[in-house]
Amino acid sequence: MANVTFSAPTLDKDITVYAVAGDNKTLLGVAKANNIAIPCQCQDGECGSCLIKVTFLGTKAPLAVSLTEKEKLTLSVNGKLSKPVLEEIETNDVPPVYRLACQYIVRDEDILVEFSGEPGVEIDLRR
Ligand code: FES
Repeated sequence: MANVTFSAPTLDKDITVYAVAGDNKTLLGVAKANNIAIPCQCQDGECGSCLIKVTFLGTKAPLAVSLTEKEKLTLSVNGKLSKPVLEEIETNDVPPVYRLACQYIVRDEDILVEFSGEPGVEIDLRR
């Protein structure tokens, strides 16, 4: 089980849900199942509208991550994954801050998921 907390200006308050790790559900799927509206258009990793910021909670180091080629490309094209950051995450197996909800498979990790509510717009980090 993983605690997934969704936070966005479009939500009245932060919402924490329990997700079953390993059932291959994406974060977008978890959000939809809980009536949390993350903007999404293609739902296939190509448009970038489901941009989210993921923060790992708890004391464990984040699990290693393999971004799909689609996610790498879309994040890069949208300016959310620079070449140096891509090299670092691939070398050190650390996840990037920005992800695509439709490509992110929930794992056994507690996370905070922040999104702006606007398609492809990153959350205001000053909140
Ligand atoms: S909905 Fe298009 S990239 Fe996720």
